[in-house]
Amino acid sequence: MNVGEALRRRRMVRRFTGAPIGSEITDRIAAAATRAPTAGNAQGITIVSVTKPERIRQIADACGERSYTERGFDPWLSTAGQHLALCTEPERYRERYAEPDKDPAALDAIPWWWVDAGAALMAVLLAAVEEGLAAGFHGGHGAAGVPAILGIPNSVELVGVVAVGHPLPDRRSTSLNRPRRDDAVRHENW
Ligand SMILES: Cc1cc2nc3c(=O)[nH]c(=O)nc-3n(C[C@H](O)[C@H](O)[C@H](O)COP(=O)(O)O)c2cc1C
Repeated sequence: MNVGEALRRRRMVRRFTGAPIGSEITDRIAAAATRAPTAGNAQGITIVSVTKPERIRQIADACGERSYTERGFDPWLSTAGQHLALCTEPERYRERYAEPDKDPAALDAIPWWWVDAGAALMAVLLAAVEEGLAAGFHGGHGAAGVPAILGIPNSVELVGVVAVGHPLPDRRSTSLNRPRRDDAVRHENW
């Protein structure tokens, strides 16, 4: 599968079969995050890959899966075969940008640790598609209990949890009612 096809196929999927995923595959998907670019090559992104069913259930609970099912959605995070806790470490960026070839003020303008997390997120989403699987992203704002479960230190920011699995037909997100912008790409001028 080429990159264009993976991009076209990718969508957030919120329902999986619950079947396990082989460890070679889960390792490849997690490793994709390390292929994403990082500002100043700071490499401040860390992925915690979780495949044990018990732990997947714990994370689903901590992310409030019940709030999804109460709104009529199917169980989602608990049906995944892999969770990837996407973590970023501002301190690694501060240290890197304190080096002579960098300007620490750059991080005041744009905190690159969030940008790099987005790049890593896209890399793992596409890697899941390449493996014939699907994935969805649950934002960190709704995952407050997850750092304690995974032993994530206080200095590390949990950006969210990527749930990967064998897809099943799911209920369409209401966010998709927003029409696709047709002016997001402009030529030569804004
Ligand atoms: C930064 C970010 C945070 C998101 N957080 C959530 C979330 O917490 N729960 C959820 O169901 N979807 C979440 N989404 C998925 C978006 O709703 C989804 O990407 C968007 O509606 C477009 O749909 P598509 O990715 O299937 O094309 C998030 C996406 C991004 C990029």
